[in-house]
Amino acid sequence: MANRGGFSSKLGFIMAAAGSAVGLGNIWGFPYEVGQGGGAAFVVIYLLFCFILCFPVMVTEIAIGRKSQKNAVGAFDYLGFKKWNIVGKMGILCGVLILSFYNVIAGWAFGYIFEMAVGNFDIANHFSEFIVDVFKVGAYGLVFMATTAYVVSKGISGGIEKAAKLLMPTLLFLIVSLVIYSLTLENAMAGVKFYLVPDFSELNGRVIYNAMGQAFFSLSLGMGALITYGSYVGKDDNIVTSAALITLTDVGIALIAGLMIFPLIGYMTEGAMTDVGRGPGLIFVTLPQIFGTIGGTLGAVVGTTFFILLCFAALTSTVSLLEVPVSYIVDEKNIKRSKAVWLVAGLIYLIGIPSLLGNGYSEYFSNFITYVGAESATDFLSFVGHVANDTLLPLGGCLIAFFAGHIWKKANLDDELAKGAPGYKGSFIQKYLNFAVSYLAPIVLGTLFVLTVLGTFFGINLF
Ligand code: TRP
Repeated sequence: MANRGGFSSKLGFIMAAAGSAVGLGNIWGFPYEVGQGGGAAFVVIYLLFCFILCFPVMVTEIAIGRKSQKNAVGAFDYLGFKKWNIVGKMGILCGVLILSFYNVIAGWAFGYIFEMAVGNFDIANHFSEFIVDVFKVGAYGLVFMATTAYVVSKGISGGIEKAAKLLMPTLLFLIVSLVIYSLTLENAMAGVKFYLVPDFSELNGRVIYNAMGQAFFSLSLGMGALITYGSYVGKDDNIVTSAALITLTDVGIALIAGLMIFPLIGYMTEGAMTDVGRGPGLIFVTLPQIFGTIGGTLGAVVGTTFFILLCFAALTSTVSLLEVPVSYIVDEKNIKRSKAVWLVAGLIYLIGIPSLLGNGYSEYFSNFITYVGAESATDFLSFVGHVANDTLLPLGGCLIAFFAGHIWKKANLDDELAKGAPGYKGSFIQKYLNFAVSYLAPIVLGTLFVLTVLGTFFGINLF
């Protein structure tokens, strides 16, 4: 155990875990999910998931990690429940899948740095051509994966922690500046209304499943990423307050990202809000337009800076995704960290190639699968997203909660959480977490898992 490394401080852990949480999921994913989910009603459901269900799962993951000082698979072995390590194995598979497509999108964001630098705001109208140029965006993705691998190879406090501490605050500053700018534009309020005034008639099963998947994805939950990070946390850190800070940061940044995008769409569409449901291309189309309205050198500087920071946010997330399989291989298979990192990163890049090709370049991967009862085909990247984010993450969360509540046992969870938190035992939050982990999360997440599978892949919508 001597050489596993660890976070150098409590703040370092919070920053790294918040860095894992804050990423493309917040700035790219959240606004487009809100757009497709009909606006504010989606936001409300998303917030409920984050605080009521995801927060307890986050606490549990970190506690399992710190108690065992092991990776996502080894943690279950260490606690004495070898059969349950299947949950960790599923998590590793899920992390590999997520990173494979996440890296493709990070590659787009990376490419946009150069487009913005030369003032090519018109790319907003040529996004679909941009992503079809697979050799170019594939190369961007390759650089991105290599950078991720480099940071992970530097280990915990040297690489992951340092990068997160510097870049997160800078990103926040830039987004808030853009929120202020976008709120001053004409028709901004139409966007704000769409975003913040709920219309619950928009609500259906689809919106609820997506909100759940988005909450898990954005908080980096359900696949052992936080078991892994938790294994590097000091014994006298307070897990519950750390998890609360991580959740608040992540949710806060997603909300602010929405407040940046929707006023812009209000402005661009003269209040008609017609372009909100455009999907994964949303920020890649809206933002360049707005940097264009700033115009000239300033527009180019703001645009370039924005995409640089977005890439850094994505990097602290890809790093956590890569760390999960790497830490497993390092702990369990006794392969050196430096070697494991490049091996796994190379493999995941290859697994991501169909996601790269499925955006118009390859007919086969662009219309990869037609779900039962669906009107049109789903591309490979979205398919992997549906399997990993919307299905496997909530299932993982359900199993992790059930494990802590009934297999590992609540008393052990309580003991671990009480370390570094003197008043924890007997507190309201202890009672709530016990209830959530034992009953609420397993039942709600288990039910939604079944409904999601039926609804998404088999066209059976029970409500
Ligand atoms: N949360 C990150 C984002 O919002 C993505 C991410 C990083 C992730 N690590 C994860 C998602 C682990 C699920 C599990 O961009």
